[in-house]
Amino acid sequence: MRSHYCGQVDTQLLDETVTLCGWVHRRRDHGGVIFIDLRDREGLVQVVFDPDTAEAFANAEKVRNEYVLRVIGRVRRRPAGTENADIRTGQIEILGKQLDILNAAETPPFQLDDDDIHEDVRLRYRYIDLRRPHMFARFKLRHQVTQAMRRYLDDNGFMDIETPMLTKATPEGARDYLVPSRTHNGSFFALPQSPQLFKQLLMMSGMDRYYQIVRCFRDEDLRADRQPEFTQLDLELSFIDEPTLRNIMENLVRYVFKHAIHVDLPESFQVMTYAEAIRRYASDKPDLRIPLELVDIADLLNNVEFKVFAAPAQDPKGRVAALRVPGGNDKLSRKQIDDYTQFVSIYGAKGLAYIKVNELAKGRDGLQSPILKFLPDEAINGILQRTNAQDGDLIFFGADKAKIVNESLGALRLKLGEDLNLRQGDWRILWVTDFPMFEWDDKENRWFAMHHPFTAPNIDDINTLKNDPERALSRGYDMVLNGSEIGGGSIRIHRPDMQNAVFEILGIGETEAREKFGFLLDALKYGCPPHGGMAFGLDRLVMLMAGATSIRDVIAFPKTQTASCPLTAAPSHASDAQLRELGIRLKVKQTDNKSETAE
Ligand code: AMO
Ligand code: AMP
Repeated sequence: MRSHYCGQVDTQLLDETVTLCGWVHRRRDHGGVIFIDLRDREGLVQVVFDPDTAEAFANAEKVRNEYVLRVIGRVRRRPAGTENADIRTGQIEILGKQLDILNAAETPPFQLDDDDIHEDVRLRYRYIDLRRPHMFARFKLRHQVTQAMRRYLDDNGFMDIETPMLTKATPEGARDYLVPSRTHNGSFFALPQSPQLFKQLLMMSGMDRYYQIVRCFRDEDLRADRQPEFTQLDLELSFIDEPTLRNIMENLVRYVFKHAIHVDLPESFQVMTYAEAIRRYASDKPDLRIPLELVDIADLLNNVEFKVFAAPAQDPKGRVAALRVPGGNDKLSRKQIDDYTQFVSIYGAKGLAYIKVNELAKGRDGLQSPILKFLPDEAINGILQRTNAQDGDLIFFGADKAKIVNESLGALRLKLGEDLNLRQGDWRILWVTDFPMFEWDDKENRWFAMHHPFTAPNIDDINTLKNDPERALSRGYDMVLNGSEIGGGSIRIHRPDMQNAVFEILGIGETEAREKFGFLLDALKYGCPPHGGMAFGLDRLVMLMAGATSIRDVIAFPKTQTASCPLTAAPSHASDAQLRELGIRLKVKQTDNKSETAE
């Protein structure tokens, strides 16, 4: 049907006759001559129709935006002064000889070049949204990324193996999506939160190196970087330890960046322990582009009379930390400081103390702060020294339970980085390692696994582990890029006794463990190699590489914040017949669009 893509016609084709297909991007009637910008995925080309070719001209008069055309014409140079240096086709135009209207189009619900369209409308008419060149570019990039991944993994002995979608719960910390079984009424499949257990079984099968670009399903609260169904590059390797695994993963990521976006990532990635990341950046996924760091000052304040500081300074679960903003004195107004106080309150902070450093040489008189009057000279001098304060700086303080201080100052650090434009460098990538194995949950009064429950602890002795779970670190690792967790994984437990012990610490009794993970516990008994792996969040990675701000922009047909699809109106009702077959009676009434709880 066509000889070239619209966007690829250039001066090399001068005087040749080409056949092009595409959409009408714009039509301009210049009294006697009609210009049509014809668009396909490769770009735009300008086609000119004049009344000399009567039939084509008559057709050109009929077309409207987004009509689908086939055009035959001759390539000629644009008249001097009308060239467009920004596009490949900018030196030429097509003199149209024949125009076939392949399909008409109704007026689209939005202009393709309008940047300010409500996302619901974009998602409802996603097929039109995706026609926009910058959207096409994102999906082309996504394709290049997965292509590079496959190429690298293929060259390094990984095998692509599929795992079931209709399966049993795979705990990754979210709610499951359930699928009712018709053949076993009352029973449900769960869609996988990840292929975690299957990839471990594949190692036990001797596959040695596995990968899969695979959809995962998690019913969790959605955000800009979370979708209910998302894609992982999932990997697992046998007979592997952390340094070797990290090295292979770094090579993979370097290869992908080099081939997809021509970026050279560092020769080896920085490795930082969880404890250090929290101490310096109040985050387990620090954005290292922002040159601000927290400093602990509890020891300087545990004897002061100011209870706001002294109480958390004395509390083993408390934290008192300072965040120095170099030059912040001039950059931040009183109003902004008030706004930041409001901002940290979202994270539970009860206030945001600060010191403005006007002139250090003047001692107390050179400082300005609502808390100075509560602090002795010794404490103030200690703080100034430890934060390495200079004239013109502003120092913020957080004092509370460590969790609140970390969440609030961690968020403040990111916000200051954004507001004051402090980010340095384009790509800052690192590993975060040595996570605590377990986390205590006050509400449920039990331990939780910080990664998943199949992650190996750094303690081999089961009694030592059981006696003091709090001390155990996990052999897990996350890869963090520009403050975003792009991947995570671990060396796994490969001994049945250790797996049982970890279940026990997590409060999963023997019966429950058998019922949920009996197949894994059995498999561990039949010759399980030491193994480990990780999974990358493909959507997040592509989002960052594309410079997009939401993973929805790199997923062709994403869900909304409330996990629905405006395009297909999913989820939707099941018919009575379907429900009957599944043995399901609803407690809720099916209404026009959404289920609603009956009274
Ligand atoms: P984890 O749960 O850390 O690990 O997931 C791996 C990576 O997947 C991405 N991710 C998401 N992306 C979009 N939407 C979501 N809802 C979402 N949830 C997670 C993140 C994350 O780093 N089985 C383990 C991996 C392993 O141990 O090998 C796992 O799933 O980028
Ligand atoms: P107050 O004595 O409560 O008025 O607080 C004095 C100063 O300390 C104010 O600037 C508060 O914003 C700040 N402040 C109060 N609670 C905290 C806290 N938990 N962490 C940091 N600063 C706080």
